Parts: sequence; C-alpha cells; structure tokens
Amino acid sequence: AANGAANGGSGGGGGNGARPERSMRLLREQRDGLRDRILAGRRDAVDRQHALGKHTARERLAMLLDEGSFTEIDMYRQHQAHGLRMEEQRPATDGVITGSGTVHGRRVFVYAQDFTIFGGSLGEAHATKIHKVMDLALATGSPFIGLNDSGGARIQEGVMSLNGYGGIFQRNVQASGVIPQICVVLGPCAGGAAYSAALADFTFMVRDTSYIYLTGPDVVAAVSGKRPTHAELGGAEVHGRTSGVATFVHDDERGCLEHVRYLVSLLPAGNQELPPSGPPRGAVTDVRPRLAEIVPVEPNKPYDMRAVIAEVVDDGAFLELHRDWAANVICALARIDGEVVGVVGNQPLVLAGVLDAAASQKAARFVRLCDAFNIPLLTLVDVPGFLPGTEQEQAGIIRHGAKLLYAYCEASVPRVQVILRKAYGGAYIVMDSRSIGADVSLAWPTNEIAVMGAEGAVNVIFRKELAAAEDPAGLRAALMAEYGERLMHPHFAAERGLVDDVIDPAHTRSAVARALAMLRNKHRQRPPRKHGNTPL
Ligand code: HXC
Repeated sequence: AANGAANGGSGGGGGNGARPERSMRLLREQRDGLRDRILAGRRDAVDRQHALGKHTARERLAMLLDEGSFTEIDMYRQHQAHGLRMEEQRPATDGVITGSGTVHGRRVFVYAQDFTIFGGSLGEAHATKIHKVMDLALATGSPFIGLNDSGGARIQEGVMSLNGYGGIFQRNVQASGVIPQICVVLGPCAGGAAYSAALADFTFMVRDTSYIYLTGPDVVAAVSGKRPTHAELGGAEVHGRTSGVATFVHDDERGCLEHVRYLVSLLPAGNQELPPSGPPRGAVTDVRPRLAEIVPVEPNKPYDMRAVIAEVVDDGAFLELHRDWAANVICALARIDGEVVGVVGNQPLVLAGVLDAAASQKAARFVRLCDAFNIPLLTLVDVPGFLPGTEQEQAGIIRHGAKLLYAYCEASVPRVQVILRKAYGGAYIVMDSRSIGADVSLAWPTNEIAVMGAEGAVNVIFRKELAAAEDPAGLRAALMAEYGERLMHPHFAAERGLVDDVIDPAHTRSAVARALAMLRNKHRQRPPRKHGNTPL
C-alpha cells in the first residue's frame, strides 16, 4: 500500500509485490544522489587540485558562464574500455564536462577537462563528448570554448585516443573562420591537446600552472638526456614571449576567465554576423589634442603606440593580443564609437617599430582573424622598414612578410590606414597601403612616405657625385634637403591619391570613426576558388 501511495496510485500493476519497490520518489532520490556525487567529485582528488593552486572543472565553468546558465550534456557518459584495469574505474563524465551556457547573455558551447579523473586524459568517450559540443557550436553558430587540463591522449585506450584527437582537430579546422574558437589552458595541455591550442583563434594561459608541450619532461629526458622543467618546456612565459602559441597570459584562473568573458563580448557569434555593437560614443566629433604631444615630430624619437591607441579608441580600453611576443607590432581589439575594430600598430618603443619575421606572423594572423569575423581594421603606421640582415633573411622574413601582405591583400572588411610618421619601402606597402586595398588612408602632417630615408637615398643615387665632390658633407646635406622637399613633403602622397586626407592629429579619433561609419556596409565578393595558397 505504501508503494502504491508513493507512486501516486499508479504503480500497482505488477501486483503481489513481485516487482522490486519502484516509485518516482525513490527513482528521483537515486538520481539525485548519483548526480550529487558526480557534481561533488572525489574529495581527495578535488583537494589535490586545489592544493596545486587550480580550480576544479565545475568551479571554472561557474566563473566563466553567467550564473545558472549552464546546461550539461552527457554527464553520465563512461568509457567502455577494457584491459589495463580500466574495468575497475568507470567514472561518470569520463573526465570532461560538456555543455552550453551564456557569457554576458550570449550563447557559447564549452568543455572543461577534469584533471581529477584519469588526469583529464582523452579517451574515446571523452573525445566523443567534445566532438558533440563542437558540432553543436558549429550547427548553432556559437563560439566554442575549451578549458584544458589534461595529460593528453589516454594511454590505456591506445589508438582510440589518437582517433579522438584527430576528430577534434578536424572539427577545429572545419569551424575555423566560421565560429570563434577559444582555448583556455589551465593545467597541462600535453601531447595531442597542444594542437588544439595552436588551431584555436585565441589561446589563454595562466602563469605557473599552465603548460603546453608535445612531449613532457620525461620523454625529453629519455631522448636528450637533459630533463627540462615544465616551465622551461612549455610554460606561460615560453609561449607568451617566445613561441607565440599563447595569445594571452594571466596571473590567475579567475582573472583569466574574466578576460575570456571580455573577449567574447567583442566577438560575433559567427562569421554570418557583425561583432556586437556598443552605444555610440560621440567619437565623430571628438578632439584629442594629447595625440600631438604623445608623438614626437622627430621621425626617430621613440614613443609608446599604446598611448596613441588609448586616445583613439573608446574609453582608452583595448585588448592586446600577444602582448609580449613580437612586441614591435601591436595587435588589439577595441571599440570606436561603440563598434568593434581590430587595431594593428607599429610600436616605436621596441626595435624602433621595424617589421621582422615574428611581427609579420603575428600581424598576419590577426588580420586574418579580423577579416574572418567581420571586424574592421585600423592600421596605425610608423615604420622604418623591414629589419635588414642575414639573421632575418635566414629566418625567412620574405616568407613571413609575405604572410602579412597576403592577409591584408585578401581582407575584405573595412580598412582604414593612418600614417603617423615614417612609412618606408616594403613596410609602407605591407601596412595596409592604398595599393593593397585600404579603403581610406589618412596621414598626419608628420608623414614621410618614400622608398627609403633621405640619407640612404642620396648615398645610393648620388654615389658618384658625392665621391667626386670637394665638400661631400655639404653636397650630401643639400641633396638630402632637395630629396625631402621633392619626395617627402606632407602632401606628396595625398596629391597622388594615395592618401585621402592629411589630418590634424587631434582629429584622428573623429576621422577614423567617420571613415568606419562610411564603410560599415562594405561588401566584397571574391571570385570562386578552392582556397588561395597562403605562404604558410
Ligand atoms: C592516462 C594519465 C595520463 C595519460 C596522466 N594520467 N596522464 N592517464 N593517460 N596520458 C593519470 C596519471 O596516471 C594519474 O593517475 C593522474 O592522471 C594524474 O597524473 P600525475 O602524473 O599524478 O599528475 P602530475 O604529477 O600533475 O603530472 C601531470 C602530467 C603527467 C605532466 C600531465 O601525468 C604526464 O606527463 N602525463 C603523460 C603526458 C603524456 O606524455 N601524454 C601523452 C601524450 S601523447 P592516478 O590514477 O595516479 O591519479 C599524445 C598523442 C597525441 O597526446 C598526439 C597527437 C598529435
């Protein structure tokens, strides 16, 4: 009778107590108990994760997503592997939590690897769960965010683990340029997982707890006899400064995930949309007299291009990508008059702002990212040229510089160039000149655009005259003055239609805002082709 009552009177069909007790209340309790155990995780493993200075996968999702917005998928999934004692443990989730939630009210799909289960390693079930949320992100046109904390391919599952990684990479590539992909590394990201970090549009790392490498210290020691530390092999400093794998480096997980949220607020959900607009900020009439104070008129005096960017964009706020890698070029996302814009700027504070192999790669990837996601480009030019020398030539500066050229030439988003001071030679062409497709080109009265600077030019074209002169220094000075007057006066390029306007520096923000407003509906169809042959 008690059973029948608990069932709301509907459970008595079996009769005579032949069936085990079965009621909705009991089933719900069992379900709730199992769920609570899954959600809590193993206490000792959770404590160990905390002791490492890391949060659990669920704590991270709570920091990343809007409160109460997470819908989990496949919570009960277990691996089905046999052998090597795998039957002894079939934990729910299989070491990865997958699902969807919102960030500032906008839909995203996520996975968070759980290091407390098999070290977050990726086996067949784990991989299939990730494949499912990647497919849903692509099908719904939503950003995809992966929180990584994993020992890589699950060794016990052999080729099925490798197959699982392949499926992720295949999806990473199919989704590339369609939806934004964000890879957040919050622990080891070893072996196969490293390639997802490289394929993503943005990769975040945290100092002292994140490591990305193809082979761990043990394998390196076995092969080379020397055992590097985790940090030397693939810490945040290595990837943030030297290899360029990490787009952003943070001091702690909370700050890192807060920045992921900020980044998402600047991106469209996919390539069929424009980035989300903010309220207009009256930029079209803004006057910024400080700009002329920041930039010295002397062409070779250094200054911080970040200060210029801060004057031009809304609220002085911008999100810099690869801040410590190839710092001679700055790539940043910001808003101007409420609209998202990608800013590329030479940085005269570092290597005088020259373009070298690393800077070319950094800027090229950024230009392609902006073009893929309908983010207009603002290019702030103050560049003495490409870095000359055997080291750079041997490092492939021609190939890497070509990447930047290719990226700009192909970009169909609105493109505005502002030449602040120097723009010499190939670096002038490559930094979004009119010749490679800038829609609007503006220049300050301090602009100097030429094949090369006056001294170098005079030495080349008047070598014989200078050698024969009684007063070579006097002749050189006179010829340099003539070169400057004829070829490098502020209106030379404007008179020839290669600069649309010579502007007062104080009007830079308003002129850029007007240009971007003018170009907002720009469309450009490319002729059909399978794909170009980018100089990779
Ligand atoms: C199965 C793994 C595992 C893996 C870690 N674990 N990595 N289980 N497969 N790949 C398990 C450990 O056995 C351990 O289980 C638990 O996770 C925690 O690991 P620890 O070693 O105790 O943690 P820690 O000392 O913090 O070291 C973390 C680590 C280390 C640096 C990630 O575990 C490690 O080096 N793992 C192997 C890394 C690796 O070489 N992966 C394969 C890469 S090859 P218990 O039960 O003791 O808690 C690859 C191929 C794809 O990915 C290539 C495609 C291009």
